[in-house]
Amino acid sequence: MIAHGSTSPSLQLTHEGRLKHFLTLDGLDRAMLTAILDTADSFIEVGERTIKKVPLLRGRTVVNLFFESSTRTRSTFELAAKRLSADVLNLDINTSATSKGESLSDTLLNLEAMASDMFVVRHSQSGAPHFIAETVTPGVAIINAGDGRHAHPTQAMLDMLTIRQHKGGFEGLKVAVVGDILHSRVARSQIRALNTLGVAEVRVIAPATLLPRDIESLGCKVEYDMSHGMRDLDVVIMLRLQLERMEGALLPSEREFYRLYGLNQEKLSLAKPDCIVMHPGPINRGVEIESEVADGSQSVILNQVTNGIAVRMAVMSMAMSGQVSERVKARPAEVRT
Ligand code: NCD
Repeated sequence: MIAHGSTSPSLQLTHEGRLKHFLTLDGLDRAMLTAILDTADSFIEVGERTIKKVPLLRGRTVVNLFFESSTRTRSTFELAAKRLSADVLNLDINTSATSKGESLSDTLLNLEAMASDMFVVRHSQSGAPHFIAETVTPGVAIINAGDGRHAHPTQAMLDMLTIRQHKGGFEGLKVAVVGDILHSRVARSQIRALNTLGVAEVRVIAPATLLPRDIESLGCKVEYDMSHGMRDLDVVIMLRLQLERMEGALLPSEREFYRLYGLNQEKLSLAKPDCIVMHPGPINRGVEIESEVADGSQSVILNQVTNGIAVRMAVMSMAMSGQVSERVKARPAEVRT
């Protein structure tokens, strides 16, 4: 495991407090999260045009480095970069030199030698994007697309955009995250974002075996019983059982989990009538969510996917402009004229 510890704000922010990498929501204040949401809002309209392009990253090279499987995140990062007019390289790790034993650092040195401007990184090791940001050539922006169990900041921000669109803001909201919190980088980033944006209450609903020990210190209330936990909710976020990260038997059976924590119409009816249903995907129908709910009128799961493009456009353009402002500042005065 690559140690990530806590990311010091100076790693992802410039001296003026602008974004230059996007690694974690830790250390980012409400004004920054709101700026990301407002910028994303301004990009939604681009996705509705016939010609879905703006020139903000024209001439820039963005490399998608996905060391773990992904459908939504990888494709929406690619679309976001293309809508910003960047040149996009998708490195297929299975057919790249990584499979011939090349180290991460050597792969990166080679990609930097191709004058890349941004790496979008997904990795099974918590802290991998942080490590890359510390070692990469100045001027290259690193965006975390999900690292181990640690963080998935763009997912949390697209979730926040979806909540803001449907609820008009965050004040007074009661939000629950349900299921496999223990293995979820998404839950960690969501809890952080919800608290920073000032919701009234964040709940986690899960069996004790699927909760991290430090859960309450993250700023949430714990509920083990779903029928109790669903009461008064404005937003319910379901999570996939991340079996690929589970070591040993943490659950009696998937059927038992579904009975206790799966979201069906009956459990949803315990929440507020206008409660929205969210899920980062991939969804497992009949494991954590019933089809009737996933496809029902309260579900905003596909809106989340659409919003992913606008949020990723926002984060990529903000980080690139933060890098440019740092580079301009770093140049010697006589060359600056
Ligand atoms: C999540 C992930 O990869 O962390 N999915 C996503 O990015 N949309 C959640 C999951 O895999 O269950």
